[in-house]
Amino acid sequence: MHCFAASQDLNSPAAAHHPFSSPPSASDVAIAVATAVAQNMPTDHGVPVFGWENGAPFQKRLEGKVAIVTGGGRGIGEAIVRLFVRHGARVVIADIDAAVGEPLAASLGPHASFVRCDVGDEADIERLVDRTVAHHGRLDVLVNNAAVLGRQAPKSILHLDADELDRVLRVNVRGAALGMKHAARVMVPRRSGCIISVASVAGVLGGLGPHAYTASKHALVGLTKNAACELGAHGIRVNCISPFGVATTMLVNAWRDGDDDDDDDDSEAAEVTKEASTEEVESVEEMVRGMATLKGATLKGRDVAEAALYLAGDESRYVSGHNLVVDGGVTTSRNLVGL
Ligand SMILES: NC(=O)c1ccc[n+]([C@@H]2O[C@H](COP(=O)([O-])OP(=O)(O)OC[C@H]3O[C@@H](n4cnc5c(N)ncnc54)[C@H](O)[C@@H]3O)[C@@H](O)[C@H]2O)c1
Repeated sequence: MHCFAASQDLNSPAAAHHPFSSPPSASDVAIAVATAVAQNMPTDHGVPVFGWENGAPFQKRLEGKVAIVTGGGRGIGEAIVRLFVRHGARVVIADIDAAVGEPLAASLGPHASFVRCDVGDEADIERLVDRTVAHHGRLDVLVNNAAVLGRQAPKSILHLDADELDRVLRVNVRGAALGMKHAARVMVPRRSGCIISVASVAGVLGGLGPHAYTASKHALVGLTKNAACELGAHGIRVNCISPFGVATTMLVNAWRDGDDDDDDDDSEAAEVTKEASTEEVESVEEMVRGMATLKGATLKGRDVAEAALYLAGDESRYVSGHNLVVDGGVTTSRNLVGL
């Protein structure tokens, strides 16, 4: 019976000092090595690069890579951070909220670190990229994940609040564009790199979010295609992911706001972000399942992270300019004929 933490790395020097609740025996390691070799897993100086999960070795798909995940302190970003660390990447969590980012980095050990960063501030982004390169020597992957949904009310375009529009675009579009700019600055000379942005189904279809958010996510899909067009010449891949609803703080807050929503409410109240309770997460997941095309599954942050892992890894080496929609088919059909 093995009780390894999911992110344990049997190859890392840190593993020797890690307080395993049940350390691997010599025979465990020998079996794992033999299995890894048999499966032709990649090696680092002859040592197979593998982790250990559910009693079996698995191939680490980002071993040696350096990644930045913006908005990585919670929600979908946190799921991406956790999966990337598990797959051997060194990950810099960049978030405006140190209260979530710092403890997450501390809990993940030496492969994770935290940098406080407002993605809408170019000086912050520049410093983030420079610190990452100074510390790790390179940047292989940038995940532009940070975003805000914006206020739910007033809903009507007739009552559009231009300042609110600017606020949402500043984080969701300006932030991602600045990330691309400064990541490309250090990736172009190396002629390699990968930029992934988390867009949304609201960047595919109308009617799935507030106007400002919908505009921002459509812009992000366009920006991805344009950046892929330019940066492909330098060997850099640029893609985005468009998830359907995941019951994160963002979505639970929107659902909570929507519950006591009044379209005539044009108050200046700022977007409020409160932590989601377990009951609220379950209610939102139930609501999303009800709206989903694909039944029998609940979309989780981990599913979006798996898409990011694919786009960050060498398995997607010829994929660029792509919008990987993770929505169980919601945006591809509308059942008008009773199928
Ligand atoms: N949750 C969903 O249903 C859903 C669906 C589709 C797309 N998305 C997208 O997924 C991404 C993550 O969303 P989430 O649901 O995990 O949201 P979330 O609100 O739970 O987490 C967002 C994170 O971004 C950080 N952040 C916000 N503004 C920032 C800024 N200016 N600079 C740096 N960090 C900042 C927050 O502190 C937080 O840690 C977003 O791009 C969102 O638009 C979410």
